[in-house]
Amino acid sequence: MGDLHESIPEGVVSLPVIDLSLDRDQVSRAILDAGTNIGFFQAIEQVINHGVTEQAMRDMEAACREFFALPAEDKAAFYSQDNKKTNRYFSGSTYQTGGNKYWMDCLRLGCSIPVGDSKNNWPDKPQNLRGVIETFTVLTRDMGMELLRLLCDGMGLRPDYFDGNLGGADVIVTLNHYPACPDPSTMIGLPPHCDRNLLSLLLPSTVPGLQFSHNGQWIDVQPLPNAFIVNFGLPLEVVTNGMLKSIEHRVVTNTTMARTSVGTFITPTKDCLITPAEEFLGEENPPRYHAVTYGDFNRIHSIAKHGLSSVKTTDLKKIEESLRTET
Ligand code: OGA
Ligand code: NI
Repeated sequence: MGDLHESIPEGVVSLPVIDLSLDRDQVSRAILDAGTNIGFFQAIEQVINHGVTEQAMRDMEAACREFFALPAEDKAAFYSQDNKKTNRYFSGSTYQTGGNKYWMDCLRLGCSIPVGDSKNNWPDKPQNLRGVIETFTVLTRDMGMELLRLLCDGMGLRPDYFDGNLGGADVIVTLNHYPACPDPSTMIGLPPHCDRNLLSLLLPSTVPGLQFSHNGQWIDVQPLPNAFIVNFGLPLEVVTNGMLKSIEHRVVTNTTMARTSVGTFITPTKDCLITPAEEFLGEENPPRYHAVTYGDFNRIHSIAKHGLSSVKTTDLKKIEESLRTET
């Protein structure tokens, strides 16, 4: 894997900043420009009655820190290595990635909208965890759905294109904890990957570590205060027939500071057909991806992830062919 710290600082390739308080048309154009250039952008959410409040972000960060600081036996009750389970606590040290383990702990939760009973499946410690996650997730998902509507405006899709099954499964929320690491040169926090959900909204922590791939190099993300890092998942790449790219990213570790981030993932339902939208197809633009249900996509991708050196491809045919030739 080489030296994990071979990267260039973000200043060299800057991450576009989207200010959601600007005029709607302007925002829509800016999001599309950002999305078609790099695939990652920072959304500064400052719109009152419409955004993730600072309080919700600070409460979420505090609840996260408190959860990971709980005694091991409290967290153990939630621990599971069964990756089919939606709600669980697990450790990257139980996974093998190319012979390496990775250096993170994660609390992963499913959250229906409205939240209803789903929060009864979440840990009940620390005491305010459920309420804080509920508030944070509802606000963050609202922001995500608004970003999708803005993208639709910019791309000529009807505004509610993602309101049905494409964005309709339970939101997945991950609380990620990357402890300080004795050997960052060999220990990755999260291995290179593209996200499998539709849209990812990350509350990134002020501790650096996230990097995205650009022209074959890793770029450090240096988030602005209160910014979310937003990126497109593979299904969104498929729906837009490759117009919006799902970008590979990873997390590196450091020796001194623990890092805690929160991912909010808007996710298609299992039976949803993931296929390029007609609006992106034409004589000059044949479909570049095969239609497949999200359930199948996930299943094939899970196998491919273990079988292939790269998890980047969205071309399922290629994945299946590689699987056949590799096995
Ligand atoms: C993820 C992810 C980045 C981070 O959970 O998919 O890329 O900074 N997380 O934790
Ligand atoms: Ni990711």
